[in-house]
Amino acid sequence: MNPLRSLILAAAGNEALGRAVAALPATRGIVDRFVAGETVADAVTAAARLVDDGLFVTLDYLGENTGQAAQADHTVRTYLALLDRLRGEGLSARVEVSVKLSAVGQLLDEKLALDNAWRICAAAEQLGTTVTLDMEDHRTTDSTLRVLSELRRTWPWVGGVLQAYLKRTESDAAGLAVADSRIRLCKGAYAEPPEVAYADGHEVDLAYVRCANILLGGSGYPMFATHDPRLITILGERARWYGRKPGGYEYQMLYGVRPDEQRRLAAEGETVRVYLPFGEQWYGYLVRRLAERPANLAFFLRALASR
Ligand code: FDA
Repeated sequence: MNPLRSLILAAAGNEALGRAVAALPATRGIVDRFVAGETVADAVTAAARLVDDGLFVTLDYLGENTGQAAQADHTVRTYLALLDRLRGEGLSARVEVSVKLSAVGQLLDEKLALDNAWRICAAAEQLGTTVTLDMEDHRTTDSTLRVLSELRRTWPWVGGVLQAYLKRTESDAAGLAVADSRIRLCKGAYAEPPEVAYADGHEVDLAYVRCANILLGGSGYPMFATHDPRLITILGERARWYGRKPGGYEYQMLYGVRPDEQRRLAAEGETVRVYLPFGEQWYGYLVRRLAERPANLAFFLRALASR
C-alpha cells in the first residue's frame, strides 16, 4: 500500500487528531460533501432527494468500534427511529440501511452484535426493506460472516460485503453466490497487512473482476460498489455475458463521489444505490474517503502540521 495512504488510514483511529480536524474551518465543506448531516431528519431529507433523482439509497448511521453496550444500544435505537421515519415518508421501496457490526457491539461480544443487528432486521422487515452488514477490517471478517449467516437463516435478504483486496475473498464469494444472497463487492478501505491482502492496486482490480465473475455466475444478487470507470465498463460487459439484465445486479457508489456518473447509469436503466452516511461520528469515515483521493488531502495535512 502507498505509504501516504497507510499514514492517513492510521489517522482514522486517532481521536485527538479527529478533534483537531473537526475544528478546521475547511472541514465543514468537505464533511458536507460526503455526509448527509447529523440527524435522522437530515438523513431522510437527503435520501428523499436522491430517490427523486431515480436513485436507490442505503443509509449508514456513522460510528464504529463501540466499546460500550449503552452506545451500541443508542445506535440500534437510532436505526429504529430512522426506519420508522422512512415508513412515514413512504421511502421503503428504495431506501435500505447499512450497519457496521462494530457499532452495535461486535468488539464487546459477537452475540450482542447479533442480537442488536437482529432488532434492526426485524424493524426493516416490518417496513419491507433490507439491511446490509458493512465489512470492516480483516480481524472481523469471520465474525461478520458468521452473524450474516445466522441472520440470513431468518431473513435471506440480509446483505453482506466482500472486499476484493482480501486474498480469502474468492473463496468467500463462491460460498455466498447462492439464491437470494445480496452481496456487495468493494475493493476494501482498511490498511491491511500483506499476508492477508493484495497491496498492489492492479492486483486488487484483477481480484475484483475474478470475484465479480463468481457472483455473476452464481444465483445471488451482486451489488458492485465501485467508482472505478474501468471496472464499471468491465462489470457491464460481464453482466451481459452472464445474461444478467439491469435490475439483476446493481451498482453502488458513495454519496458525493461521481454524482454525475450515478445519474448517468440510472438514466441508462441501471439500478444505482447511493451509500448515504449521517451522524455526528463522521471522522473515521471521512478519513477513509480522503485516503482514496489524494486531491482532497490539503486540509488534512494542515491538521497534521498544526499538532
Ligand atoms: P478507486 O479508489 O480506485 O477509485 C476509482 C476512481 O473513483 C478514482 O480514480 C476517482 O475518480 C473516483 N473516486 C474514488 N474514491 C473517491 C473519493 N473518495 N473522492 C472522489 N473520487 C473518488 N469498504 C469496506 O472496506 N467495507 C465496506 O463495507 C464498504 N462499503 C462500501 C459501500 C459502497 C456503496 C462503496 C461505493 C464503497 C464501499 N467501501 C467499503 C469502500 C471501498 O472499499 C473503496 O475503498 C472505495 O469504494 C474506493 O474504491 P473504488 O472502487 O471506487 O476505486
